[in-house]
Amino acid sequence: MGGTDEGTAAGTDWRAWQESWDRQQEWYMPDREERFRVMLDMVEATVGPKPGVLDLACGTGSITDRLLARFPEATSTGVDLDPALLTIARGHFAGDERVTLVTADLKDPAWTDSLPHTSYDAVLTATALHWLHSEPLAALYRQIGTLVRDGGVFMNADHMKDASTPRINAAERAHRHAGMERARAAGALDWAEWWALAAKDPVLAGPTAERFRIYGEHADGDTPSAQWHAEALGAAGFAEARPVWASPSDALVLALK
Ligand SMILES: C[S@@+](CC[C@H](N)C(=O)[O-])C[C@H]1O[C@@H](n2cnc3c(N)ncnc32)[C@H](O)[C@@H]1O
Repeated sequence: MGGTDEGTAAGTDWRAWQESWDRQQEWYMPDREERFRVMLDMVEATVGPKPGVLDLACGTGSITDRLLARFPEATSTGVDLDPALLTIARGHFAGDERVTLVTADLKDPAWTDSLPHTSYDAVLTATALHWLHSEPLAALYRQIGTLVRDGGVFMNADHMKDASTPRINAAERAHRHAGMERARAAGALDWAEWWALAAKDPVLAGPTAERFRIYGEHADGDTPSAQWHAEALGAAGFAEARPVWASPSDALVLALK
């Protein structure tokens, strides 16, 4: 996706990389954009239209992108560990003083030391915390409980599985995968194909090799139920927590401090 100055960061079309990331993620989650819309509705409902946001495990910054398009007076700190996705985010938000991007490992107990602020109106995350096992995730929730100001909000949109409904889960999965196969036949890229493209890009090749050294193909985590998330957030100091949106495979859990 190089532009006229092929091979240099200045010639890279960051918007095109951002959009191709979004298409790849939508192949797994056709409702992804609706999830973002409801998340931002609930930001507005709880902390208003000028929030200081932490975009947790931001990747290329898709949440921050939607946040700033809808609330131009918002600010955002994006934090992630992936050097390739952060390279796209840095290119995409270059020169935008509302955005700060931070490299940190959310499993490192000292990761909050890297943040530019000690408190946020809203901490938002999507399709990311299933990369963590439940125990480190509960520890992360306790840290988020201290980062969100009183009256502030945390929201997690992710795959959340209910193990008590195996037949419903199997039917939903088969239906979703049939749709994915049709989209694939129409040209949609999956995770591995998208990363293979990034590995061939002159600017992204180095950071892509580095992200595979860090993570391998994908981290190995858990997908607990929405109820588990709500209870863990209650234990982490939030006053109220419940799902505010759900699809057959995913949920958006909101916790209010
Ligand atoms: C599927 S991507 C989602 C990115 C973005 N939130 C979105 O919706 O497009 C998952 C992200 O979680 C990040 N992540 C996973 N484990 C992490 C960790 N321990 N520390 C920081 N980031 C992590 C990955 O680097 C990746 O960017």
